[in-house]
Amino acid sequence: MAGIIDFYSHLTGKEWAALLPFGLVCGGVAVTLYTKFCPLAKHCVNMCQKKDCDKVVDSVDMEDIGDKACFCRCWKSKKFPYCDGSHNKHNATTGDNVGPLIVKKKNA
Ligand code: FES
Repeated sequence: MAGIIDFYSHLTGKEWAALLPFGLVCGGVAVTLYTKFCPLAKHCVNMCQKKDCDKVVDSVDMEDIGDKACFCRCWKSKKFPYCDGSHNKHNATTGDNVGPLIVKKKNA
């Protein structure tokens, strides 16, 4: 590492100018790869649920819900589409404020 720093510290302005196009091309390639392949750069909300599907759609029968059910809205639950509390870790890590959708019968 010290050898690399020593090498670059001896470059002249003209040599730095000659390296500029190479640096711009490398930066452009890095940004292109990041925006094309990194899910975060595409602003995906779903980072882990059923990624092999074109669209994640879940259906729950009302009769199966019982008095109350909590549905995940953070896309991090291991019991998706139900909430397993994973939103707490997500919120603590990111500063987000997401929580579940609670469906319940009146007075439940
Ligand atoms: Fe996703 Fe609770 S685990 S909202």
